[in-house]
Amino acid sequence: MIEKLTKRRSIRKYTDEPIADEKLNTILKAGLLSPTSKNLHPWEFLVVQDKEALNKLADSRQMGADMLKGAAAAIIVMADTTVNDVWVEDCSIAMSNMHLTAADQGVGSCWIQVRCRQSRTPGVTTDKFIKELFGIEEKYAVEAMLSLGMPEKERRPMTLDEKLWDKVHYEKF
Ligand SMILES: Cc1cc2nc3c(=O)[nH]c(=O)nc-3n(C[C@H](O)[C@H](O)[C@H](O)COP(=O)(O)O)c2cc1C
Repeated sequence: MIEKLTKRRSIRKYTDEPIADEKLNTILKAGLLSPTSKNLHPWEFLVVQDKEALNKLADSRQMGADMLKGAAAAIIVMADTTVNDVWVEDCSIAMSNMHLTAADQGVGSCWIQVRCRQSRTPGVTTDKFIKELFGIEEKYAVEAMLSLGMPEKERRPMTLDEKLWDKVHYEKF
């Protein structure tokens, strides 16, 4: 597990190669297998592979989402906020599990923040932009999306910054 965590990196540059259906399904399976508070599964995953839609999605953020223009797919993660108040945590775990599984499958991916962010259209949040683009009902809140594609090149594995051990506290803070 630690070896896999070390190898995981955010990948923002992709080749033109499509993602094999089996790999995409395995990534989605990782999302669906994620634990949720009270086992309520408030999330929904919207898979986007249409190039035109991916290009439009890049405009859902002022910056930080341009990799979608070269991506083979994106998975938009949203939740019905009426189901459980801790939907943010539920969506985050699903995002994280899919990001890690993508790396394990040799697929490059990057987390793109949606919640609390603004689109390129003045006054329109990223959440509203995406909901209007895909006709998503108001009761859903979009938390994040995962861009996906076959990596243009490998990134070096993470090295643990020893200073981060200062973040760990024992018995008292
Ligand atoms: C909650 C969260 C939000 C993020 N949002 C974005 C984003 O909107 N755009 C982006 O390019 N990267 C985003 N990232 C990726 C981080 O920038 C990246 O994980 C960090 O720089 C460390 O690099 P690494 O993932 O390669 O180790 C996000 C990551 C997390 C966990």
